[in-house]
Amino acid sequence: MSSTVISIQNLDLFYGAFQALKQVPMTVRGRHITALIGPSGCGKSTLLRTINRMNDLIPGVRVTGSILLDGKDIYAAGTDVCALRKRVGMVFQRPNPFPLSIYDNVAFGLRVAGMSDRCRIESVVEHSLKGAWLWDMLKDKLDHPALGLPLDQQQRLCVARLLAVEPEVILMDEPCSALDPISTAKIEELMLELKKKYTIVIVTHNMQQAARISDYSGYMLLGDMIEFGETASIFTTPKDKRTQDYISGRYG
Ligand SMILES: Nc1ncnc2c1ncn2[C@@H]1O[C@H](COP(=O)(O)OP(=O)(O)OP(=O)(O)O)[C@@H](O)[C@H]1O
Ligand SMILES: [Mg+2]
Repeated sequence: MSSTVISIQNLDLFYGAFQALKQVPMTVRGRHITALIGPSGCGKSTLLRTINRMNDLIPGVRVTGSILLDGKDIYAAGTDVCALRKRVGMVFQRPNPFPLSIYDNVAFGLRVAGMSDRCRIESVVEHSLKGAWLWDMLKDKLDHPALGLPLDQQQRLCVARLLAVEPEVILMDEPCSALDPISTAKIEELMLELKKKYTIVIVTHNMQQAARISDYSGYMLLGDMIEFGETASIFTTPKDKRTQDYISGRYG
């Protein structure tokens, strides 16, 4: 069994007075895909965002409990949040390339990190685009605007932009929800390739998608982690009646 990369215990999150996560536990194994499922509003995105402290940006948020990344609490005082977000990157529902060229999108994080060696940057851009399966189709138009690409390529460009800064963990919040079935299949295939090197946590509304690609799944309801385990058992022999109702389509 692979090692634990993220270990979450007793995680509470409040938006002001509203408690969105309740004593949530979760274990994320390295180089596997972990899926978060559950009805709208149950806290999937909130939980995902705690892993790279994106919720810090929302006023009035309070978090208690612990999230260990490689054994270190990411909420401990003195945590370098920028460094954390480099290690734990995020892909969003709608592709969000910057209004820059394809090349500059992928090079962005490197330049922010202070890299100025042009050859190095070029080689990382190529490597990252290859990693997101875009190199062959885009190598002759690296100076074209990223926003002119079809949506699925924009989403994979966002993946390439992350790969350039060598994350350990990739968080994906419904990365296929804006895509058609063929583009979705391509992203799923890419995720299966990426998990050979990276640890992935994905939120999905699509239970078939969770069943197809994830190794572990967590079913959430109203801020509680109802059940967490190997995807094969969650989908075939759920222990909790509420999970059973949800995956059989009786709820949500
Ligand atoms: N910025 C915020 N301020 C206040 N409440 C919020 C905020 N963001 C989310 N919530 C609330 O927290 C709960 C969990 O929301 P969250 O977006 O995490 O759910 P979700 O499972 O991702 O839902 P969906 O499937 O619709 O994306 C919901 O009740 C939501 O209304
Ligand atoms: Mg959400």
